Amino acid sequence: MSVALVTGSAGLIGSEAARHFAGLGMHVVGLDNDMRKYFFGEDGSTAWSLVNLTSKLGDSYTHYDVDIRDRDVLKKIFERYGRDISLVIHTAAQPSHDWAAKEPFTDFDVNAVGTLNVLEYTRQHSPDAAFIFCSTNKVYGDTPNRLPLVEQETRYEIDANHQFANGITEDMTIDNSMHSIFGVSKVAADVAVQEYGRYFGMKTASFRGGTLTGPAHSAAELHGFLAYLMRCVMEGRTYNLFGYKGKMVRDAIHSHDVLTAFEAFFRSPRSGEVYNLGGGRFSNTSHLEAFAIAEKIAGKEAKVNYVEQARMGDHQWYVSDMAKFQAHYPDWQMTYNVPAILNEIYEANADKWM
Ligand SMILES: NC(=O)c1ccc[n+]([C@@H]2O[C@H](COP(=O)([O-])OP(=O)(O)OC[C@H]3O[C@@H](n4cnc5c(N)ncnc54)[C@H](O)[C@@H]3O)[C@@H](O)[C@H]2O)c1
Repeated sequence: MSVALVTGSAGLIGSEAARHFAGLGMHVVGLDNDMRKYFFGEDGSTAWSLVNLTSKLGDSYTHYDVDIRDRDVLKKIFERYGRDISLVIHTAAQPSHDWAAKEPFTDFDVNAVGTLNVLEYTRQHSPDAAFIFCSTNKVYGDTPNRLPLVEQETRYEIDANHQFANGITEDMTIDNSMHSIFGVSKVAADVAVQEYGRYFGMKTASFRGGTLTGPAHSAAELHGFLAYLMRCVMEGRTYNLFGYKGKMVRDAIHSHDVLTAFEAFFRSPRSGEVYNLGGGRFSNTSHLEAFAIAEKIAGKEAKVNYVEQARMGDHQWYVSDMAKFQAHYPDWQMTYNVPAILNEIYEANADKWM
């Protein structure tokens, strides 16, 4: 039996991972305690997603309602499956930039210490497993905001001659910038994952996500930008838009494309790697542009409350350069762009949100 252990298995990326690897014939062991509901309230709860998962995957899925901060229980799960675990996908996290400042201890315990817990038990019990960690572009702090940007009608853009014109590479420094409390806990985890590759020789990778999105997101105001934006347009809810005239740019990657990238790494893993992971030049949007696409799809006008003050440390322009990952895994291809992603979020949630 080959086991894929997925933390945060009811979340956006975790649930896609569970479906993906069960589909490849693996047994999936999922860990999730619906802590997203604690972070973001009822909107954020992933309970519905867990119900879908267990009913769809049947015997190929085993769920543990466990907190990754609980070392005793976590240890028992790793002891139980041991070397049958050939893949660990670690997605469980406090994922919001803004929420982290409310409870820095909780944020750091979940994101940094929780990651160390999962890493160390993998080393003790399943050392040959490929270990995939969902890091974030917030590890670069607000350094991207120092790039030379040009204001266009609907977005900011980088100077076309700049070294990052095709997107930000993994060479950008993660030092000397404002990260937000969330960025700090993710840097700690990102570096620990790299170190378990370098120091212990494990097959680890930190994937520094841009906007990871898809219909399985439990869209909440503080996390899940594209899904929440679509939800607001569909429900007629007011969207609070913070700063930069709504022209800030994000690159968005669909959870399906995230999982095909993870599968490529799993099939041919490397040690201590770091990859940027986003929509890149193929799939990016400003908030203003995303509203226009969402309005067209839903046939409804967006209600927007513009707030002058940008979120602290928020990126003004972030597009990932995917060249390093594509050079290591040339068969991998991105399939969804922003309109296709928004369309799918709309179709999948029409019953719930309209
Ligand atoms: N979605 C994005 O735009 C984005 C961007 C960059 C990085 N990431 C990272 O990718 C990962 C997955 O993101 P997502 O959007 O799927 O998040 P998500 O919130 O949808 O999923 C995370 C899941 O983890 C669970 N969880 C949280 N704390 C837990 C704990 N202590 N113990 C057990 N389970 C716990 C939650 O209940 C949730 O179901 C996160 O690490 C996040 O920081 C996400």
